[in-house]
Amino acid sequence: MVRKKAGIIGVGKVGATLAFYLAVEHICDDLILIGRNAEKTEAEALDLQHSLGYSGNNISIRSGNYADCGDLDVIVLAVAAPYHTGMTRLDMAGGAVSIVSEIIPEVMKSGFEGIFVVVTNPVDVVTWYVQKLSGLPDSRVIGTGTSLDSARLRQYLAQVMEVDPRSVDAFVMGEHGDSQFIPWSQVRVGSKQFTEIMADYPDRLKGIDLNDVNQYVSRIAYKIVNAKGATTYGIAAVTGQIIQAVMEDENKVFPVSARFHGEYGLKDVYMGVPAVLTSRGVKELVEYHLTEDERKKLENSADIVQSQVRSL
Ligand code: LAC
Repeated sequence: MVRKKAGIIGVGKVGATLAFYLAVEHICDDLILIGRNAEKTEAEALDLQHSLGYSGNNISIRSGNYADCGDLDVIVLAVAAPYHTGMTRLDMAGGAVSIVSEIIPEVMKSGFEGIFVVVTNPVDVVTWYVQKLSGLPDSRVIGTGTSLDSARLRQYLAQVMEVDPRSVDAFVMGEHGDSQFIPWSQVRVGSKQFTEIMADYPDRLKGIDLNDVNQYVSRIAYKIVNAKGATTYGIAAVTGQIIQAVMEDENKVFPVSARFHGEYGLKDVYMGVPAVLTSRGVKELVEYHLTEDERKKLENSADIVQSQVRSL
């Protein structure tokens, strides 16, 4: 059996939580942790190994460095730029890009030719730069994008409808940030359009305002970050599911930050959109029949992300 090999660069709260998720779910067979503080990174690897004492998987977890990246299938970038309360994700762009500008050339020296999964915020901007700096085909540079926002939306609607989140087909598009939006024309619960459900059950859903839902989904992260310093479990789980889709060649449709090549009339931008994920990265983006208002929101998000990229 060919061993599935992953690396995580940046082993702070998010990177360490992701490492634990990958280990417990046995999403990879070899996991290398790379961090600025070598002693702490080694301790994380040892601690993670100890979580496997009674599990059936033979995953190998160790700390390493950029030279170890050459034969990895997937590398996750989970380094974080400094964040202060009141900042938006876009405010972190300058710091984040300067950090990855140092990291990517070192990784590419190893001969890495796998797939980058970018977590670092602002993820759409950073993913664009990682592709530019690495020179890898853009299908092999993926950002977590609106995958976490989509998970939050699914969970929210599942609770409102009192159904299993897996019965909710919903996603968020655009920037992983304040300009993201929910294409309600595409949201279904139990394969029934959510707007039809609202029309059919006005009493049951009378407290639901679609704009409020959008506000909740797009801003709940600030409440969590301000209270505990970072979000960790949600981003770790969705990143793990992206990695699993790649490692298992699942051909799964999943919202990620992917490069647009004319879809929705947009080019040269990374943004959140459902895409088909395979062992070779993004195979294609899904093009929905959005309403005119939804298309305008997507274009607005693209303008915001592209202007941020140009400003750096
Ligand atoms: C969040 C961070 C990952 O939305 O941007 O929780």
